[in-house]
Amino acid sequence: MRIVSCKDYAEMSRVAGNLMAAEIIKNPSCVLGLATGSTPIGAYEHLVELYKSGDISFKDVKTYNLDEYRGLAHDHDQSYHYFMNENLFKHVDIDMKNTHVPDGSNPDAEAACAEYDKMVEEAGGVALQLLGIGNNGHIGFNEPGSVFVGPTHCVDLTESTIVANSRLFERIEDVPRQAYTMGIKTIMSAKRVVIVANGEAKAEAVKAMIEGPIDPMCQASILQLHPDVVVVCDEAALSLCSSVK
Ligand code: GLP
Repeated sequence: MRIVSCKDYAEMSRVAGNLMAAEIIKNPSCVLGLATGSTPIGAYEHLVELYKSGDISFKDVKTYNLDEYRGLAHDHDQSYHYFMNENLFKHVDIDMKNTHVPDGSNPDAEAACAEYDKMVEEAGGVALQLLGIGNNGHIGFNEPGSVFVGPTHCVDLTESTIVANSRLFERIEDVPRQAYTMGIKTIMSAKRVVIVANGEAKAEAVKAMIEGPIDPMCQASILQLHPDVVVVCDEAALSLCSSVK
């Protein structure tokens, strides 16, 4: 794991955005794996700036998002479809046909998940996967558990995730209890992984990811086995890592 310690959120966002931009410059028709949550918003803002200044184009870029709540319509303001449109897609020249988010509106979990894996595979896999990390160490919506699950699958969200994500919903009862998420196999198959985290609230999860045992109770710890991971964090998120100066 390569650790990049940034002084604040703005620097973290610039570094992560630049790594993604570099991928697009290297291969204008690259396949990007995208993440939601509040952490990557700054990286998306940086990418939009680079697009507006003419440094990059998304014209031929393909994107596959990590996850989506089960049961939310695409235009629900808490759906990840909506999030991606608002925070990136509608601001750049991406062809919406090339953007993909698991279909949470399809109640047939098995079909929705199998179809998603097939699409990622047919696209040739992900070149760069952007990730955030949950307070409980989840990546995508791969929640702590007894195993690492390989394929895209339907998960029951844990209480801690429901509570953490309820800040974005009107009432905690409105938070969906299930989600479709890319599994660990697709994430680990990406050629490069960039994971972002900021703030003290993420420090425990970041420590477990970098310094803990590889343990499905912290799903992000599997990334220790990936050959090309860049961990981009602010100082607060890295504050409990004794191995990071
Ligand atoms: C959600 C998403 C994750 C994200 C996590 C952290 O649960 N499924 O992909 O990493 O939240 O979100 P935030 O960046 O808002 O802390």
